[in-house]
Amino acid sequence: MKRTVAVIFGGRSAEHEVSIVTAHIPIMRALAAAGDYDIVPVYISEEGNWYSDPAFIDLSYFQKSGWRSAVKKLKKIDVSVNGGLTLVWPGLRAKRQKIDVAFPAMHGTYGEDGSLMGLLRMSGVPFVGCDMAASAVAMDKVLTKQVTESVGIAGVKYEWFSKAEFAADRKGCLAKLKTLKYPLFVKPPHLGSSIAITKVDKPKDLENAIEVALHYDDRCLVEEGVHNLIEVTVPIMLSDSEHWLAKVERPNAEFFDFETKYIGSGGKKGGKTGGVNAGYSEIPAKLDPKLYKECEDVTVATARALGLHGISRVDLLINGKTKKVYMNEVNTLPGSLYEHNWRVAGYSAVELVNKLINLADERAEAQKNVHIVFNSDILKAVGSGGKSGQ
Ligand SMILES: Nc1ncnc2c1ncn2[C@@H]1O[C@H](COP(=O)(O)OP(=O)(O)O)[C@@H](O)[C@H]1O
Ligand SMILES: [Mg+2]
Repeated sequence: MKRTVAVIFGGRSAEHEVSIVTAHIPIMRALAAAGDYDIVPVYISEEGNWYSDPAFIDLSYFQKSGWRSAVKKLKKIDVSVNGGLTLVWPGLRAKRQKIDVAFPAMHGTYGEDGSLMGLLRMSGVPFVGCDMAASAVAMDKVLTKQVTESVGIAGVKYEWFSKAEFAADRKGCLAKLKTLKYPLFVKPPHLGSSIAITKVDKPKDLENAIEVALHYDDRCLVEEGVHNLIEVTVPIMLSDSEHWLAKVERPNAEFFDFETKYIGSGGKKGGKTGGVNAGYSEIPAKLDPKLYKECEDVTVATARALGLHGISRVDLLINGKTKKVYMNEVNTLPGSLYEHNWRVAGYSAVELVNKLINLADERAEAQKNVHIVFNSDILKAVGSGGKSGQ
């Protein structure tokens, strides 16, 4: 019997449109080609409303002019988390659709940050990709650094402070940054590829850069810049005990290079739309074998430290002269799953989605065996007549 897979995409995120692409290419296309699944496309609007309609399977639906107003005319769905995940089209003749597996395809806030995973966890439905805690940590560049450095993974030297701390003690915050060597990179830790990142060459420009970052986020991260920069990204799949690496990829300059991305082209988005620019990437990256292996090792160590699962992508910064590798950031839902790279690594898109669904099932099975109920005598022990406050 075919299994019902809900592909969840869109969402209240700046990466709404990228998510629509990822959901269709490769996810739904590959699920359809696999032939073993009934696909239920679930679209979350920018306002946070949930819709599901068979017409969503076709990417062209989202390419017609006026598609946003067409969606708004559809009936919103409810999501039930009782005894699994069920979609409900409310009304007199309410329709219900039980979901066997969820396939999140949402980038950024509410999707990749653990929010959606929390909901799916509550329902107990198997779902593809990282769980709630790992997603939340990976979404925060400061937390990611704190976790990875705690197990000895190298990162660039950095400091951070909150918006409130900066407001209360600007001097103290700036003093913290005195030990960092220029150029500095000032970042809002929760955002993806974003114009709010500033490369700062001189101390006089620092405060302005901090203000920009704090305009977009409640924390500010300030890092030392890596010289002779080589950027690479490494897609990885993981179960609890095994991992599978794609190729170490050196994306094209336009895709990753800070100057081009943020200064040259006035803040063009990049970062997660790997499939689109894939043709320019070097796959595998031409690095000497020792360095290549180190990139793989740092990726696996990072993935384990963060508790990643299913699929992810770890971005690394390398000083091309000293050959030092620094963990930079983690994406728990690589754009288009980085299908182009997996293909080079020997996985077709169909094999990729099948494997991810198997990993989701495996984790759900394992979680069933985790003992979470603890019966105690506490209810009896509190006695009778216990009005709150007594
Ligand atoms: N410490 C650093 N040293 C050198 N370049 C950096 C550093 N941090 C960021 N960059 C440059 O800025 C780009 C964007 O920064 P990143 O932390 O990857 O944020 P995003 O989430 O926007 O991709 C990187 O791809 C890299 O080109
Ligand atoms: Mg990046």
